[in-house]
Amino acid sequence: MTFLAKAALGAALSLSVPVHALAQAFPTQPVTMLIPFSAGGPTDVIGRLIAQSMSATLGQQVLVENVTGAGGTLAAGRLAQSTPDGHTLLLHHMGMATSATLYRDLPYDPLTAFDYVGQVTTVPMLLVSRPDYPAQDFAALLEMVRENPEETLLANAGPGAVSHLCGMLFMQAVGVQLTTVPYPGTGPALTDTMGGQVDLLCDQTTGATSAVAGGGVKAYATATAERIETLPDVPTALEQGLEGFEIGVWHGMYVPAGTPEAARERLTEALRIALADETVIQRFAELGTTPVPQEDITPQSLEALFKSEIEFWRPLIEQAGEYAN
Ligand code: MLT
Repeated sequence: MTFLAKAALGAALSLSVPVHALAQAFPTQPVTMLIPFSAGGPTDVIGRLIAQSMSATLGQQVLVENVTGAGGTLAAGRLAQSTPDGHTLLLHHMGMATSATLYRDLPYDPLTAFDYVGQVTTVPMLLVSRPDYPAQDFAALLEMVRENPEETLLANAGPGAVSHLCGMLFMQAVGVQLTTVPYPGTGPALTDTMGGQVDLLCDQTTGATSAVAGGGVKAYATATAERIETLPDVPTALEQGLEGFEIGVWHGMYVPAGTPEAARERLTEALRIALADETVIQRFAELGTTPVPQEDITPQSLEALFKSEIEFWRPLIEQAGEYAN
C-alpha cells in the first residue's frame, strides 16, 4: 500500500471511530495530577486520596506531582501549557479564582486556558498556634495581637493561598497588621507553627485536624458559621465575639482547554466514583472535609462556580489593593 493510500485509510478509519471507543482508549499512559502546594498539606491530602480511587477506575496510575510556588499559579501555568489530552490535570482550591485578580501578570488567561472536570470538596478553616503559645484563649489572643502586631508571625502559603486569604480576613476583622511569613504550602507552615518558628496559622481542617486532636497545636477559633463536627470543642470566632472572620474553601479539578470531550468525560466519571468511594468519604469525614454533592461533579457546575467566584473576589481584592504582583 502506498503512503497516500495508507494515509487515506487511516483518515477514513479515524472518522469512523465512535466517540465511546475513544473514551475507552483514554488514558493510554499514567495521568499526572498537579497539586499546587507542598506534599503533606491539605490539597495534597485530598489529591492523593482521590488519585488512588481514580487510578483504579481509569486503569492507569494517577500520579501526584507537587508544583509549588506563587500561590498555586505556577501549577496552573504548567497545566495551561500541558498537552490537552486528559493526561495532565490540576486539583486546586478557590485560589484558582482569586489569583485571577490577585496576580495582575499571569502567564495564562484564567477564563480561556482551562476546561473543567468538576467540583470536588468543601473544607472549613480554623486558627491555630503551638500548644504553649502564651494566649490561653481567643480573647487573650486578640489582646495579644493588638498589643504586639509586628512581633506576631502569621504563616501562610503565599498570596493566592487560602491561608493567606483567611489570615487577611482575620487581620481585617481584628483591625491589625501582623507580620506574615509565606511558605510553599501549609504542610511546612503547620510544622513550623508546632515548632514555634511562627506563631499563628489559619489552616484547613484537612491539614490541621490530626494536629489539633493529637495536641500538636492549640485551636483558638473556627472561621465558620457553625462549629465543625469533627472538632466540636473549638468555638467559632463569631461565638467569641469576632465578626467578619468566616471563610469556606472549595476545590475543583481542571484540564487544559481543548481536552477532548471523551477524555474529560472519563475524568469526570472517575472523579464522581472517587467521591462516592466509602474509604474516601470516611477519611474526608475524619478530616472535616465534605465531598460536594454528586450533581456538582460536572464541568458545568465547576465552570459556573469558578466564574462567579472570580467576580465575587475581584472587587474585594481591588478594594484592598493587595496585589501579588
Ligand atoms: C496547601 O495545600 O498547602 C494549602 O491549600 C495552601 C493554602 O492555600 O493555604
